[in-house]
Amino acid sequence: MPIHATQFIWFNGKLVPWEKATVHVLSHALHYGSSVFEGVRAYETPQGPAIFRLRDHTRRLFDSAKVYRITMPFSPEAISEACRAVIAANQLKRGAYIRPLAFRGYGEIGVTPKTEPPTEVAVAAWEWGHYLAQEAEHAGVDACVSSWQRVAPNTLPALAKAAGNYLSSQLIGMEARRLGFAEGIGLSADGTVSEGSGENIFIVKDGVLLTPSLAHSVLGGLTRGAVMRLARERGIEVRECTIPRELLYLADEAFFTGTAVEITPIRSIDRIAVGNGKRGPLTETLQNAFFGLFSGKTQDKWGWLDHVDMAAPRVAVTA
Ligand SMILES: Cc1ncc(COP(=O)(O)O)c(C=O)c1O
Repeated sequence: MPIHATQFIWFNGKLVPWEKATVHVLSHALHYGSSVFEGVRAYETPQGPAIFRLRDHTRRLFDSAKVYRITMPFSPEAISEACRAVIAANQLKRGAYIRPLAFRGYGEIGVTPKTEPPTEVAVAAWEWGHYLAQEAEHAGVDACVSSWQRVAPNTLPALAKAAGNYLSSQLIGMEARRLGFAEGIGLSADGTVSEGSGENIFIVKDGVLLTPSLAHSVLGGLTRGAVMRLARERGIEVRECTIPRELLYLADEAFFTGTAVEITPIRSIDRIAVGNGKRGPLTETLQNAFFGLFSGKTQDKWGWLDHVDMAAPRVAVTA
């Protein structure tokens, strides 16, 4: 997905011109993968742009930093405010993808240097469309089980959204695309289902919604959490459990969830049709409930929408 450059990026406390948000090549994160980040979406709503689950994304960013003992030089409120500021400063009225990033910057070199390199923090935003394919929302995508497993428990912590984890995602995603699939599904170390390269997975079996539990090397997705809430509210039974690989083939429905993919039906896995090979009724119900949050058809009972005041940004701008 191309990046559509905007005017400003929030960088270490200030809005700077897009092209000036640069780092030194000897920054720790570039060498050792020591960065944590978020992918957040702002949606166009009848009341103007609103950021979906902003507080929860900010909290997950701080949780990821905590696991890696990365000192955060800003408060969670300042980071949430930076997310709002990049939407307002760039006038992203039609919705956007927001990318907050915190990383060990330029200081000493070495995996665990004596003096901790300073943490640098950036928040960028730009207009973004569909991650997999536009028609995928209705037609679904073809996925495969990857020959690459997900990181095992107590190796790289999957609940931290750290850059290093995405080396595993790259192997899974690249293999899938090389073989002609839209996405790859990783199995956890015990051989049971974990998640897609950059999204959580759900299946429907006999009217029950199943998803791997957090102990199966998955990221605790915020879309995953929202879908579980919306489903339970509609009387759908939801179970977080262990899913054997073959249950993927026997599922009535399957779909991915994530900030980027939103809710994307899976129509086949390893070339075996899921259900009747089309988006299933429960997937459609949940898509309607989810997208209804932004059109106003679904009541936002949980305060998930954070409306952005599009008036002038409240953060200093430097040239
Ligand atoms: C590996 C992985 N799993 C799951 C998700 C879905 O998480 P969320 O719904 O919070 O975007 C993502 C996306 O951030 C991801 O990268």
